[in-house]
Amino acid sequence: MAEIGKDINKAKRLLERGELVAIPTETVYGLAGNALSSASVAKIFDVKERPQFDPLIVHVPDLIHAEKYVVSIPEKARVLASHFWPGPLTFLLTKKSIIPDLVTSGLDTVGIRCPDHSLTRELLRSLEFPLAAPSANPFGYVSPTKPEHVQDQLGAKIPYILDGGTCHVGIESTIVGFEGDDVIVYRTGGLSIERIEEVAGRVIVQTHSVSNPKTPGQLKSHYAPRKKVIVGNIDELLLKYDTNTVGVLSFTKDYGNRVKFILSPSASIDEAAQHLFTALRTLDKEPIDLILTELVPNAGLGRAINDRLRRASAE
Ligand code: TXA
Ligand code: MG
Repeated sequence: MAEIGKDINKAKRLLERGELVAIPTETVYGLAGNALSSASVAKIFDVKERPQFDPLIVHVPDLIHAEKYVVSIPEKARVLASHFWPGPLTFLLTKKSIIPDLVTSGLDTVGIRCPDHSLTRELLRSLEFPLAAPSANPFGYVSPTKPEHVQDQLGAKIPYILDGGTCHVGIESTIVGFEGDDVIVYRTGGLSIERIEEVAGRVIVQTHSVSNPKTPGQLKSHYAPRKKVIVGNIDELLLKYDTNTVGVLSFTKDYGNRVKFILSPSASIDEAAQHLFTALRTLDKEPIDLILTELVPNAGLGRAINDRLRRASAE
């Protein structure tokens, strides 16, 4: 099993040796390795059992460092970074050749972000290289938001988990790209579209699901627990399915004496986002066959929550 601790120097030494370390961020835990080393990056794909067509996000301590790895930073990206970095926002920008092709699956853009977590920022500042880090879960499964989640699934394959507690946003970063003057959202996530639009004007949302591996990040079935997930009206679904074998994942309503998880009794979307992946993992361990759930209001982080629920329920 992996050691779990708060020792930044230990994490640094392991990473400098080419090993992988799980790192906390405000969104989810990442499985980190030296982004400039193809050997370390290859280990990431290996440990995650991730197909090499699915590129990785590179983590930097600030925008100055980002400049070292991308050809140019559009004005809108600068403005967004000044408002939201460090934070749950990833930019797709044309990479410099120093970033190995394996990181970007051969694409000429690299996903780059500055995570908002004090331990990880200190670690990033202490390193001579940026960290490539996908979410620290086996490919296709629910992302981890606590050190125990990482330990459960990847603990046997990595030496160290840097313990930064529970991720406070709880849902992966929002991914945006830039075309001319347009900002395009490719993955809804921990920074809402409303907040991006306040700063950058109207954005184009292109988060459609595809099964074509050449369009990374938009795989239809993703973020999925092993149990089947059905999204709909929970009261109606309960009439239809055998109530002994189902668990209920609701936004605010208490479905009584059964296997259940309430995302936010006080109807807070942000709290629901923070609890979503713990809820899916918890229900996945229960002796049930089905998880019945419902969409949340489609505003703020609700869009990202609904995106994850739809993908979790996709065949
Ligand atoms: O919040 C997050 O973004 C977390 C933390 C650890 O930073 N990371 C994360 O990484 O969610 P991952 O690998 O699980 O998801 C990154 C997504 C993938 O779906 C990938 O296809 C997409 O970003 N992506 C990365 N680089 C890309 C690129 N150059 N072009 C298009 N999509 C890209
Ligand atoms: Mg992931």
